[in-house]
Amino acid sequence: MDFDFATTPDRRNTASLKWERYAGRDVIPLWVADMDFPCPEPVQQALHNRIEHGVMGYTLPPASLVEAVREYLFDRYAWQIEPDWLVWLPGVVTGLNAACRAVGSPGDEVITATPVYPPFLTAPHNAGRRLVKIPMTTDRGHWQWDFNRLAAAAGPRSRLLMLCSPHNPVGRVFSREELECLVDGCVRHDMLICSDEIHCDLVLDQNCTHRPTATLSAAARERTITLMAPSKTFNLPGLGCAFAVIAPPDLRRRFRRAMAGIVPSVNLLGYAAAEAAYRHGWQWHAALLDALRANRDRVHAAVGAMDGLVAWPVQASYLTWIDTRPAGIDQPAVFFEDGGVGLSDGAEFGLPGFVRLNFGCAPALLKKALARMAAALADRAG
Ligand SMILES: Cc1ncc(COP(=O)(O)O)c(C=O)c1O
Repeated sequence: MDFDFATTPDRRNTASLKWERYAGRDVIPLWVADMDFPCPEPVQQALHNRIEHGVMGYTLPPASLVEAVREYLFDRYAWQIEPDWLVWLPGVVTGLNAACRAVGSPGDEVITATPVYPPFLTAPHNAGRRLVKIPMTTDRGHWQWDFNRLAAAAGPRSRLLMLCSPHNPVGRVFSREELECLVDGCVRHDMLICSDEIHCDLVLDQNCTHRPTATLSAAARERTITLMAPSKTFNLPGLGCAFAVIAPPDLRRRFRRAMAGIVPSVNLLGYAAAEAAYRHGWQWHAALLDALRANRDRVHAAVGAMDGLVAWPVQASYLTWIDTRPAGIDQPAVFFEDGGVGLSDGAEFGLPGFVRLNFGCAPALLKKALARMAAALADRAG
């Protein structure tokens, strides 16, 4: 079957978060992490079918969806889970916040590595926890956790490690050894792990394999809250359907208690879309990965040719993390916005001087944006 990732629908005037930011301005939006591609056709069909039924009542997670998720985790990650390990969520961000409330007590510490997806930086505070930030290192030519700093930072009040795997924004797929190091550190310091794996199905580098943290060992399974969703994989973030996988019953109870009374259930369209995606979306997904790989290469080549910008190979996701510090630009997100390209500001991820570029869009639009970035830099030099 052919899939078209070259032409995308006009998203202006559709209340799109990504596109509304620049409504009425000639700025190409390459910021928030959704893609401009329509979701897989079987998902659209499942949504049509559900709507045609006409009754929009309170809805449980369908047993057939639970089975679809179990099959998905087994087929792709050799992970055998029990149905009652699943906790359905209206979003992964909800799960990050519930995890911070479920683990430890107010005043305890939550450790994460920066830069990182902004809700990692706010969820601990929302829960009255203290955030401990460990800057990642690029010593070995790629971004990774600084294990020495982690060992030095973990103390008696450290209760939770928040891990983004694969990592947004640096695009790393962590190796088995790196993940084992993190798990060992958590065992040593008696910390639990919240592993946000929302980007796990978007591995672009064919030499890399995503491993769910909880599958590394029995010790990992007994201390990990895994957060996943079909929303990045199949471009469904507006439907608000995600889930946690939590094996230990006591941890699951605490997680559910943290959500009680404030977290609504997933809406019926989210469930319908998730099931159709996991059952019938994989051909589309394979074609998507090819399209993203081509866009990744376009970005890498173009940014590599821009004086003063540095980018790292993207192993997973559709996001490129770019260091603008060598160019000496004061506020890089504002600078490129003035040049007609809307990027995410690294400061929001805990690292000013960087920008994040979302290449989940039509190649023609991407090329135009990259040309604008090059022109903005050239104008400045000239
Ligand atoms: C690492 C990570 N976690 C969570 C989310 C958002 O999850 P949700 O929309 O399900 O709350 C994103 C979206 O960009 C993300 O990159």
